[in-house]
Amino acid sequence: MPEVQARAAVILAAGQGTRMNSAIPKVLHAVGGRAMLDWALAAAEAIGCAPVVVVVGKHGAEVAAHARAKGAATALQDPPLGTGHAVRAAEAALGGFAGDVVVLFGDTPLIRPETMERLFATRAEKGGLALLAFEAADPAGYGHIIRSESGEVLRIVEDRDASAEEKRINLCNSGVLVADRAMLFQLLSMVKNDNAKGEYYLTSIIGLARSAGFATHLVIGEEAEVLGVNSRIDLAEAEAAFQARARRAAMEAGVTMIDPGTVYFSYDTQIEPDVVIEPHVVFRPGVSVARGSRINAFSHFHEAKIGPDNSIGPFARFRPGAELGADVHIGNFVEVKNTKLGDGVKANHLAYLGDGDVGARVNIGAGTIFCNYDGFFKYRTTIEAEAFIGSNSSLVAPVTIGARAYTAAGSVITGDVPAGALGVGRGRQRDIDGWADHFRAQQKAKKEQAK
Ligand code: UD1
Ligand code: CA
Repeated sequence: MPEVQARAAVILAAGQGTRMNSAIPKVLHAVGGRAMLDWALAAAEAIGCAPVVVVVGKHGAEVAAHARAKGAATALQDPPLGTGHAVRAAEAALGGFAGDVVVLFGDTPLIRPETMERLFATRAEKGGLALLAFEAADPAGYGHIIRSESGEVLRIVEDRDASAEEKRINLCNSGVLVADRAMLFQLLSMVKNDNAKGEYYLTSIIGLARSAGFATHLVIGEEAEVLGVNSRIDLAEAEAAFQARARRAAMEAGVTMIDPGTVYFSYDTQIEPDVVIEPHVVFRPGVSVARGSRINAFSHFHEAKIGPDNSIGPFARFRPGAELGADVHIGNFVEVKNTKLGDGVKANHLAYLGDGDVGARVNIGAGTIFCNYDGFFKYRTTIEAEAFIGSNSSLVAPVTIGARAYTAAGSVITGDVPAGALGVGRGRQRDIDGWADHFRAQQKAKKEQAK
């Protein structure tokens, strides 16, 4: 008999997202470098939900494809008649699942798995429904939670349907709730659309549950965590909330930041303890920085692995496939792409290192370019251990510089340089005695004449 999983997730993503004014579906907009939908999927996965069903609308083909690529099931809600109606649309896709279902919104990216655990734990302990609520600084637009004098949850009233008094209640619904599958769908079948929007609200089940003898238990989360993104302004707010969280987590884990508000992380950035980050640094997805490295100001990273005890920047750029060993020095205006740098490599100024393999303790002079592209194909540059690349060398790939070899400054190196040799690829210098003095005198005379 297949093992029956105790948890499933339904993620609502069928809304139009009209207020985003975007050709991109709302839930595919990114926060912390990751699509909002992927935040919800990751949270559901982190707490062991299976199956996970994403509810999409008629125009949601792109969202559905995205969800399926991440291993989720999808359900179509067409037309979109409200959040309650959307959850009902997921029922068939839940198959034979029996157990607790968590409902998540695709536009609420920052909910933490720990908070979802608290919801499941609350339901396991107390039964009924578990609902994630929060104290809204500004409750406008949210569903307000109505309680009895003794604190019992009575119902949720949506902002549009609320009286002036109810609108002032700032204990609000996040949208996230946990219920037993059978209970959830039984309650949903009773939901009516007699409200201001004419929609079937998920939130109606709270009042219905009470009438049916099921209590609703609140778990209180932070507003930053349950922020729902409806507009670009909300998106920027969610981003700010994510960055604040990531900065705090990095500092708690032992990272020094001189001006944390100017350092931007992605959802998966990994920084080890005793890394120092100067101001104005951007970590796009896929970056790790090992212990003891210093990241100087205005450096930019994307899909790059920075080893321990490196000195990076200021103004250094790392693109996908950059992999640095220990004690590497990368200075200003150096770009590294799809290139491995061994321990102790130095490239301190003005260089493009693309599609290469660089051995230990190689020194790369200012102005060095790996000429990796001929307009059609890309080629690799290999530099073996302890070679010395003279300033302003163009290494025309595919090319190999042997161990301990030198290239002369200003060389265009088109052929392999043997180990221990000097590769020279430039015109030889000659000096023409007196040329400059003669030239000056001649030009000066010309200028006098023209007056
Ligand atoms: C909803 C809640 C409100 C809560 C707020 C928290 C309801 C009725 N209201 O309001 O109590 O305070 O979230 O952010 O639940 N969706 C569908 N199909 C639909 C309608 C919506 O899939 O027919 C999806 C949307 O894509 C979105 C989510 O459900 O991901 C929430 O819908 P939205 O219209 O943003 O609800 P709010 O008005 O924010
Ligand atoms: Ca919303």
